[in-house]
Amino acid sequence: MNALALNAAAADAANMQIRPVSAAIGAEVIGVDLSQPLSDADFKRIEAAWYEGLILLFRGQQLDEAQQVAFCQRFGTLAGVLNKHTGGGKHPSVMYISNIRENGQLIGALPDGEMYFHSDQCYVEQPAMATMLYAMEIPKAGGDTLFANMYKAYDTLPADLKTRLAGLTAENVYDYDAAGTTRGSKIKEGVKHFAHPVFRTHPGTGRKALYANRLMTDHIVGMPLEESNDILNFLFDHAEKSEFVYTHQWTVGDLILWDNRCSLHARSDFDASERRKLRRITVLGEKPY
Ligand code: SIN
Repeated sequence: MNALALNAAAADAANMQIRPVSAAIGAEVIGVDLSQPLSDADFKRIEAAWYEGLILLFRGQQLDEAQQVAFCQRFGTLAGVLNKHTGGGKHPSVMYISNIRENGQLIGALPDGEMYFHSDQCYVEQPAMATMLYAMEIPKAGGDTLFANMYKAYDTLPADLKTRLAGLTAENVYDYDAAGTTRGSKIKEGVKHFAHPVFRTHPGTGRKALYANRLMTDHIVGMPLEESNDILNFLFDHAEKSEFVYTHQWTVGDLILWDNRCSLHARSDFDASERRKLRRITVLGEKPY
């Protein structure tokens, strides 16, 4: 780091402020330029705010791929891109989310429309613990990302349901070709799926979180299908209650880091004729327990 960069980093540290973005979930970190290396002390503060807030928002960032990779790597080993569709970056852990087409080809993955609430990669043995999205092109309206607090969802469940589901697992599935899961249907050959605890424990905070979601959770293992469907429908409606949710309307230069172990996210619809492009990197997590 040259002297100018050192000075900028030191100034950032002195200016760093953290404030909540909503009563439900999320904190905004102000006064940090993520294109500059962070000291260990600043990183620890950011990590502590992340554990507390579940998602972190940094506005007004100007980051190239390498700078975003460098910041993301502070949180752990980067995960690979599981989506077999287009949208990879130069770095193997970078994926672009975009509806933009060049010469008739999509330049990114997860292109169009609404997405139900989900937790990234919950259908593999070691799902991503964190996902980082950086906004590069954003429609005038819609295409918001919604975040839901799964600690609060767990804490407010009826006690008898907590007892009924304690120790149970649910099968999570994601069919990229169908862009979702049709619950109760037979899992197609080659489609990734994995059973994880319905309630998981966050290794950093020791807190329990609800770990089931409308887009990817198929059934509760070992439970009659009708009962499983009733309970899952209840859990999804509960998890998505407005008091647990923050809706983020993106501005170019926003960067959000979310914790997949204790939050869900979803996307609102947007006009397909408008351009949307975000750069996504994920951090490998542990096997949920
Ligand atoms: C995602 O679910 O990872 C995509 C979120 C978004 O496009 O806002």
